[in-house]
Amino acid sequence: MRTQIAIIGAGPSGLLLGQLLHGQGIDTVILENRSADYVLGRIRAGVIEQGMVGLLEEAGVAARLHGEGLVHGGTEITFDDTRHRIDFKKLTGKTVTVYGQTEITRDLMEARAASGAPTIYEAQDVTPLDFDGEKPRVRYRKDGKDHELACDFIAGCDGFHGVSRQSVPAGSIELFERVYPFGWLGILSDTPPVSDELIYINHERGFALCSMRSHTRSRYYLQCSLAEHVEDWSDSRFWDELKLRLDKEGRERLVTGASIEKSIAPLRSFVAEPMRFGRLFLAGDAAHIVPPTGAKGLNLAASDVHYLSRALVEFYREKSSAGIDHYSGRALARIWKAERFSWWMTTMLHRFPESSGFDRRLQHAELDYLVSSSAAAVAMAENYVGLPY
Ligand code: APR
Ligand code: PHB
Repeated sequence: MRTQIAIIGAGPSGLLLGQLLHGQGIDTVILENRSADYVLGRIRAGVIEQGMVGLLEEAGVAARLHGEGLVHGGTEITFDDTRHRIDFKKLTGKTVTVYGQTEITRDLMEARAASGAPTIYEAQDVTPLDFDGEKPRVRYRKDGKDHELACDFIAGCDGFHGVSRQSVPAGSIELFERVYPFGWLGILSDTPPVSDELIYINHERGFALCSMRSHTRSRYYLQCSLAEHVEDWSDSRFWDELKLRLDKEGRERLVTGASIEKSIAPLRSFVAEPMRFGRLFLAGDAAHIVPPTGAKGLNLAASDVHYLSRALVEFYREKSSAGIDHYSGRALARIWKAERFSWWMTTMLHRFPESSGFDRRLQHAELDYLVSSSAAAVAMAENYVGLPY
């Protein structure tokens, strides 16, 4: 089998890249080691920047997002039991759209199936080969048989645990990492959200976040210790703890109900440099992770795909390798800004186990500055709604 671009991973990065390239007449094959249902079962991010909305429009998959997504013109930050609003629309002219990653993935999968472009699910032992030369290939097993896919380029869109980054010789890649001493315990429930907008809460018992997927489905998170087990968190224990971290109005308005998903995720900052190795490119979580506090993970995956799809179109259409030569540098410049913002939001909002009285006073001053200085609020809003591509 042969294709122009072999894409490893059918998460949002791989599917969006496939769709944008298909629209430009470039052939792709996607190799995914899980089933489509498994991929759709993962509950992940939910805040979409305008730039990503534009890419989904370009890919022809934004109809449901425009119909069902919730446009948010601001967010709330709570500390000292008091809520403060950051007005994105007023400060930056931009909004964000609240629409689940699961739904984006579903929309992209349907569009790909309709386009007839192949996705091979449950492909085992996917292995990128010879990407340092002119003729890269990807080997995989499917239904007990070995297969080989010849291609012009390989796009490693296979997430943090994927094979693409791990296939690069250790001496050619540099890794940067910070692991945070806490996790997020998240639940999804078919209950109306506690507020019209997201609420980010700094509390002495730990951070909490009130988010949503629709007017009838809520997503809540609690900062928790990494030693916690999800089985120890009954729904009632979760709601009781959330109430302790909410402000008075939130406590009164909170509607509780049975959870439909509950999980614990660690928080990590991670960047791999560079993002191109000959004819292999990394995109999305394969190359970088941000802690979820800034809502940047999915949006960064989209901006990588934006740079990469344009670079590949330029390569085929104009016979120029300028775009692919610049891909890693362009993507990393934006990634590091999002890494900084996500680290800053995480540091400002969480309770760090080792923090001193001095650290906590500084954190309070940071929050106080954010809600009392328009310059600070603009800086936060500008990063949250997304820096330009
Ligand atoms: N072979 C083939 N597929 C693989 C392999 C492998 N060895 N390893 C992982 N995959 C698949 C995973 O099963 C998954 O479906 O690659 C896909 C990677 O998808 P994601 O982890 O969702 O990563 P990405 O597409 O980059 O999405 C961006 O940013 O912050 C996050 O929530 C956000 O998950 C989103 C991510
Ligand atoms: C979510 O809704 O899952 C969500 C929203 C905002 C974040 C992180 C997660 O910062």
